[in-house]
Amino acid sequence: MTDLENAPVRGSSVPVLVTDSRAEAEARVAREISDLVRARPRCALGLATGRTMAGVYEELVRLHREEGLSLADVRTFNLDEYLDLHADHRASFRTQMRERLFARTDLRVENTVFPVVAGGQSLQEACDAFEARIRAAGGLELQLLGIGRNGHLAFNEPGSDPDSRTRRVELARETREDARADFAPEDVPRAALTMGLGTILEARRLRVLAFGAGKRDIVRRLLEEPESRDLPASCLRRHSDLLLLLDPESAGGTKQ
Ligand code: GLP
Repeated sequence: MTDLENAPVRGSSVPVLVTDSRAEAEARVAREISDLVRARPRCALGLATGRTMAGVYEELVRLHREEGLSLADVRTFNLDEYLDLHADHRASFRTQMRERLFARTDLRVENTVFPVVAGGQSLQEACDAFEARIRAAGGLELQLLGIGRNGHLAFNEPGSDPDSRTRRVELARETREDARADFAPEDVPRAALTMGLGTILEARRLRVLAFGAGKRDIVRRLLEEPESRDLPASCLRRHSDLLLLLDPESAGGTKQ
């Protein structure tokens, strides 16, 4: 494996910050969110699930408990949720967010929004309602993002249109494999609702996190490959306020 020293990181159109540790990157992003919320207490934040985000939420909880950060008026919008999964299922993204962040801060549950079908809604109505709530909240100030090992963003799998909006998607094979740890084999979800790439790109700031050696290959692809639908995350470079935060392992051991 070559390391990033030889890769076109500085010339890349993806702004990258390689921190000394994962904890440093998590603290930096949590601090940015905290500063944003203190300046605009009613702002809309785009949240993400996945192992990558655990430390960011832990740090936000700490900022709430120890440094007086209030999230009472913040509106949150999560990127995605499995289709037809009960909110209380232990592997639902709603459960994950409740356990990691919502129930441990003063965030109000009615201000936490997921792309899910509410009683009586059609799929299209649910997707339209999700987008309408983002607009009504004034648009997303900051969107947190992880990257799937196939380059997906949220559940925008390879092949996704960079202009796509919130919609139903079929999950890719790798994504279902990665979800296997959380479900009985016959229950691994096949579909989800996801914020679209076009929706994500409308957030004012995008903060993308990738940690650990397991993300090294996808990070290299993101930095080196041209934009294409095969690599959904490659559309990120269209954004004018993007930062990719890496730890030494995902960056290939090189400090910029
Ligand atoms: C899931 C989520 C993505 C997330 C990805 C990576 O598929 N839908 O939003 O970025 O997993 O997960 P992890 O952070 O666990 O590597």
